[in-house]
Amino acid sequence: MKRTASLVINAKAFSAVPGDTLLDAAMGAGIFIPHDCSSGQCDTCRVRIYDGSVDDRGTRRGDTVLACQARVVSDAVIEFDAVPEPIKVPATLTGIKPISPEILELSIGLHRSLPFLPGQYVKCSFSGFPERDYSPTQRVDGTGAIDELIVHVRRLRDGVVSSRLGTGIRIGHKVTVHGPFGSAFHRMGEGRIVLVATGTGWAPVWAIARASRFRQPSREMVVVAGARAIEDLYMRDSLAWLADTGVRTAIATASGLSSRDSNAVMAGRVTDHLPIFSSEDTVYAAGNPSMVAAVQALCQAAGAKCHSDPFTASQAKPSIGRRLLSFLGRGDAAGPDPRPAAGPHT
Ligand code: FES
Repeated sequence: MKRTASLVINAKAFSAVPGDTLLDAAMGAGIFIPHDCSSGQCDTCRVRIYDGSVDDRGTRRGDTVLACQARVVSDAVIEFDAVPEPIKVPATLTGIKPISPEILELSIGLHRSLPFLPGQYVKCSFSGFPERDYSPTQRVDGTGAIDELIVHVRRLRDGVVSSRLGTGIRIGHKVTVHGPFGSAFHRMGEGRIVLVATGTGWAPVWAIARASRFRQPSREMVVVAGARAIEDLYMRDSLAWLADTGVRTAIATASGLSSRDSNAVMAGRVTDHLPIFSSEDTVYAAGNPSMVAAVQALCQAAGAKCHSDPFTASQAKPSIGRRLLSFLGRGDAAGPDPRPAAGPHT
């Protein structure tokens, strides 16, 4: 192994020590790579290896790796997308609305603007409660003001935060919003865009879908959204809006159904209804980690670009990681929660 390596990150050249993480090497050279968990969970630090090689430590997806895990081994040219820098903004809870038997739509009034890209997530601290990660989105009918965050939360009976919404956490509750984070944000591009979501994974996917329809209305889009129970398919009005704007394939699936029902909900998991991916596709997947892993594998096999956001719950054990909570609803853990979710959400 060489004693030093030459790295070029976003056109800035510097010497790095082999064995250091790309994140540490960059930060040491004064280059801020967006990051959050620093433990390989949140995907915020995903960077593109444009030339040369690194030790990817098992994080490679296409030509990208996680900068907080991958190590410097030799010369390399690395790039990452510019995103808004995370800031903390005071805010107030202004609305709590059930949108399915399990899912709440929260409105949070921002006291200052907080720039973020569609699909990114933020950390919300309700005063007196542990931090949780949520994906800003629009209401299911597409509305939302510039000075408010709309987020979807799965209510868990024992959730430290979600079970207190409406009781210990009421309208007017103070909130600190920190962000944005995450790498699965909307990007302009060519080729088909495929959006896949389960549960409250619909929040970032809906934000990305809206952005894409407004920015590139002629870009072909396929959307597949699912839930276990038909009652939790709270996104069906949103799917109808997408269909009205010309999206020919906007499917809702319920794994609890045994056959197609009269409301055009398909029986089965979202992975039962995915299109065949090609190398021209850009795929976004958010929600259940197993579903996201399956979509990543299909994308890898097809050579499709994949931006993913596996929702994991806050855990007592740091090794399990951030988004298991989000899967439960971007995400809230049951019971004590010494480690706030380091990425999306309940
Ligand atoms: S900062 Fe690298 S995965 Fe979270």
